[in-house]
Amino acid sequence: MVNILIIGSGGREHALSWKLSQSEKVETIFTAPGNGGTPNNVPINVDDLDGLVDFAKKNNCFTVVGPEAPLAAGIVNKFNDHNLKIFGPTQQAAQLESSKIWAKNFMKRNNIPTSRFEIFDDAKKAQKYVESLDYNVVVKADGLAAGKGVIVCSSDDEAKSAIETILIKKTFGDAGNRIIIEERIDGIEASYIALSDGDVALPMATSQDHKRIFDGDKGPNTGGMGAYSTTPIIDDSLAKKIQEEIIDKTIHAMKNEGILFKGFLYAGIMIRDNEPFVLEYNVRMGDPECQPITMRMDFDLYDYFEASVGGKLSSMPTPTWKKQSAVCVVLASKGYPESYPSNEEISGFDSISNDVCVFHAGTKKTDGKILSNGGRVLGVTALGASLEDAISNVYAAVEKISWPHKYCRQDIGQKGLSYF
Ligand SMILES: Nc1ncnc2c1ncn2[C@@H]1O[C@H](COP(=O)(O)OP(=O)(O)O)[C@@H](O)[C@H]1O
Ligand SMILES: [Mg+2]
Repeated sequence: MVNILIIGSGGREHALSWKLSQSEKVETIFTAPGNGGTPNNVPINVDDLDGLVDFAKKNNCFTVVGPEAPLAAGIVNKFNDHNLKIFGPTQQAAQLESSKIWAKNFMKRNNIPTSRFEIFDDAKKAQKYVESLDYNVVVKADGLAAGKGVIVCSSDDEAKSAIETILIKKTFGDAGNRIIIEERIDGIEASYIALSDGDVALPMATSQDHKRIFDGDKGPNTGGMGAYSTTPIIDDSLAKKIQEEIIDKTIHAMKNEGILFKGFLYAGIMIRDNEPFVLEYNVRMGDPECQPITMRMDFDLYDYFEASVGGKLSSMPTPTWKKQSAVCVVLASKGYPESYPSNEEISGFDSISNDVCVFHAGTKKTDGKILSNGGRVLGVTALGASLEDAISNVYAAVEKISWPHKYCRQDIGQKGLSYF
């Protein structure tokens, strides 16, 4: 039996702990710092690497890292130095996410399909370059910017002001010391996630996120307002292409360059004329994609984490998935992604049936009550025989949960239905 320490505090981490708790090999699950729904919270922040090492040592934990920041800070290297088992990529491998420029150059030298681009640190030169192009661009800050450092532009003027925002106004601080200007690809977006041990990568079920705050993909970008799995957008032949020409190629090229990538590798994909392009890599599960994906897992996730860390994934059976569809609807606080109220009591948990998962994100438990404590508050997730059934099951559950400033999109999953 093994104890688990999950690092993070979002819906992704709650979903991972829910799934790991079903393993017969898992004894106690701790979460640092966790939220109102996660078990055995430990008050250590994700950036307190020494504190996390101490806790894992004392409690003999196998550690699972949820978010990108501690990975970019080298938590895996540090745990390895202490001979502690930890699931996730090293700091070197995490560069695929922590530096968009590093990732773009990596893709270019390894012929991994991505849009054409140039790198700049000088605003004047960047603006001149934009004028010389006859296509629309996307301007991206190099470093981690909590999902806000990317500006999709529809004119030269928009691109010039994006350059100013990042390079001159320094809105994203040092993360914006350098920028990428890349071709905008207009297509359909989907997420492709695989689990790797540095040698091979096993595909996870496909999924699609809903990034914008309002129905019909309107309004500003968010961390994600809902996701469903499987998505019909990635059919079998496209999945094969993404697996071979993007995922396998990435893992092998990393190995050739002397970096073993262990952990979840997430490729944000834009599909244009049935051709996939990598928009970005993430080096961890997506949130909220993780919630519907874990609900469909028909295997012991701990076994696969252990095999990833030990470099033994090639001897594991192909992961099997529940045939049903899964849909996760994110319940947010009204006002998100800008300002919103917190500390509102949430009710209705008792009326949710056992086959629906309510994964917590921005919540906290105080005096036995669950209070809102963030922009994205809960991820209600349900299965169904079809995508349509899963949608109606999840919204029936969503109706039962309430607090004064609850907000959610009403159209999560519809993109998958309209695709047929
Ligand atoms: N080359 C591109 N063409 C069109 N849209 C893009 C492009 N790059 C990014 N986007 C859009 O911007 C969003 C955010 O960009 P992404 O590279 O995923 O960075 P991050 O998730 O770090 O903000 C994507 O989900 C996609 O909708
Ligand atoms: Mg992204």
